[in-house]
This record gives sequence, structure tokens and C-alpha cells, in this order.
Amino acid sequence: MIVISYSKTVEEMIDCAGPIECELLPRLIQVTESAAIAAAYQMGRGNKNFADQVAVASMRRMLNKLDMKGIIKIGEGERDEAPMLYIGEQVGTGKGDLEVDIAVDPLEGTNLTADGGPGSVAVMAMAERGGIFHGPDIYMDKIVVGPDVVRYEEEHPDEKIDLDAPVSHNLKIVAKALERNVEELVVVVLDRPRHAQKITEIREAGARVRLVSDGDLMPGVATAIRGSGIHMVMGAGGSGEAVLTAAAIKILGGKILARLVLPMVANGKSQDKINEEIEEKLPRLEKMGITLENLKDILDTNKLVPGNDVIFSATAVTPGHFLQEVHLFGGGGARVNTISMGASGAVKFTDSIYIKDKRETPLYL
Ligand code: FBP
Repeated sequence: MIVISYSKTVEEMIDCAGPIECELLPRLIQVTESAAIAAAYQMGRGNKNFADQVAVASMRRMLNKLDMKGIIKIGEGERDEAPMLYIGEQVGTGKGDLEVDIAVDPLEGTNLTADGGPGSVAVMAMAERGGIFHGPDIYMDKIVVGPDVVRYEEEHPDEKIDLDAPVSHNLKIVAKALERNVEELVVVVLDRPRHAQKITEIREAGARVRLVSDGDLMPGVATAIRGSGIHMVMGAGGSGEAVLTAAAIKILGGKILARLVLPMVANGKSQDKINEEIEEKLPRLEKMGITLENLKDILDTNKLVPGNDVIFSATAVTPGHFLQEVHLFGGGGARVNTISMGASGAVKFTDSIYIKDKRETPLYL
């Protein structure tokens, strides 16, 4: 008889980390699936706002069926600019003991959906109260790397990824951690003029750049998945996207370093434009306890997602880096592809088929 012993039993490995993962993760998959299917019906129709609107409405309807006291921390905007899933909105039935903070992006990559391009997803993360960064809807400059880099940093305390270091410094660490040459690395960067300098530096250091027209959230998640072909994400994108990336990357053992930045500053606009933006946004920032001085702070994975009972789900709308697009069936059914995960380390790739009419909808392998 051969007995292999590990630090965790099989049951401990499969068991969930806390009540949110136990009770809400299976339902969270349905929430992102419903938003993705709703958006898929609008795919390629050139109307990004309507695609977003249907995803938001569907996600909110599903969310409001869950027994929890939920509060939106990262949402569709402030209350006065977003009618649904705005920051501070209370969601869920209000029943039960679960008090949950929520980050949503019902349609990440609205242009991608409208144009039928690859990379759009419906995404959501949850954690216990206080477990998700409560911050403004501006940009975050960031670096995202996978768990090999975290392990390498632990083994080499003098070699750390640094948001302010030259690009070549960070690339060398990632290359060593992955036991590759810098030339073999792929860095995803949003294709924006603000990143021109960074793109040049990455190329000069020898690494390869994959430019994406939109959607910098899932490439961040992909850094933690071997075989995805993505080793690092760099550059400034939406702050909500960064927080959602942090939720997944925390569960997967990777790392994000980020810093809030005003869009006018990141996009190199004139001082007048920057002042206008400061005037408009400062009161909201201050309400959240963020001063202009604090904007310089580095936010790491645990600052962005301090929670312990963290869950995450993302369902592809259009073809993704590692997920299949929504397939709509004749007769009204749909097939959808989701990655979901919980703090225990349970990661599920779900291929769901929803049959609308059992006699009319064919089931394909
Ligand atoms: P939307 O889904 O809201 O359109 O965002 C897409 C996106 O590309 C994000 O992935 C990214 O973080 C952000 O927009 C970048 O913002 P900008 O287009 O202003 O550079």
C-alpha cells in the first residue's frame, strides 16, 4: 500500500476558504454568465453603450437574487452618473449573515464587444466587508506578474519588482523568475499614446510587446496562468480594472503594484486640463480619504484587496486570452466559458450550456 502525505488532505484542498466562497461562488458564476450572454446578443452591433447597459441590467438582476447584504465598492461610477451598480449601491436580498463588498465590471471592453473584437468579458469579485479597495474611478498605473515572480522575490529579497524602476530592471526579474531570456517575455500594454515611451523601453530591453486596443484586466489574470503566453502587464488603465485584477491575482498567488493617476496626467494633457480635472474630482477623492499627496502611494495586492474570503468570476463575451466566446444557439440557448476562483485556491474553468427549449435546442460536444 502506498500512502502519499501532503500538508493538506484532499478534503481540505477542495473545501472553501470561508462562507463567501462556500455560499456565493457557485452563484457568482451565474451572475457573470448572465451579463456575458446579454452582452453577446449585442456583439458587433456597434453600440457599446447599449451593450454595456444590457450587461449591467442583467448582472444586477442576478446579483439581487443572492442572499447577502452586498455593497458595490467598484462599480459603474458615482451615484449621480450611473443608475445601476453605482459605487455604494446596496445589492442582494438583504437576507442572511453575509456582508459582502463587491467589485463589478459587467462589460470589460465595451468597444471590443461593439466591434466584435476579442477580449471582452463580464467580471465580478467579492470579499468580506472592508475586503475591497474603496477608491475613485480614475486610472491606475500598474505592473502585474504571476506567482513565479512572487516566489523569486521571496528567495531573492534584494530583487523586487518596482513601479518606479526602469522597465529593464523589472523585465530582468521576471525573466529570471520564469527561467527565460528577456527576449522570450511577452508584456501586454494598452495601445495608447501615453504608453509610447514604455513600449519603446520594453522593446529596447529586448522583450516582446502585445498591444491590446482595450481590455487590460484579463491579461493581468493571464500572467498567473502558464501557457497563456502573457508574462507581464504594464501601463495605466482603469482603476476598477486594476482592483478586479488584484482580486484574481491575489487568489492565484501573483502580484500587482499600482498607483492611482488622474487620466489627464496620464494622458499628458495641459496643466489647465489637469487643474480642471483636479477641481472636479478632488471632492470625491477627499470623501474617500484620498488627498493629492496620497495619489503617489503605491498600492500592492493586499492594499487593493485586503479581504481573506475573496472570490472572482469572469465570463468571456468575445474570444479571450484563455476563454471561449459566448455561443448563441438556434432556439435561444447559449454556451458560455467562465473562469472562477476562491481564496482556497479552487479554480474552475466552466463550460456551461443553457438549453432554452429542450426539444428545439441541439446539444453539441
Ligand atoms: P471599457 O470596458 O469601460 O470600455 O474599458 C476598456 C478599457 O480598455 C479597460 O480595459 C482599460 O483599463 C481602460 O479601458 C483604459 O481606459 P482608456 O480607454 O481611457 O485608456
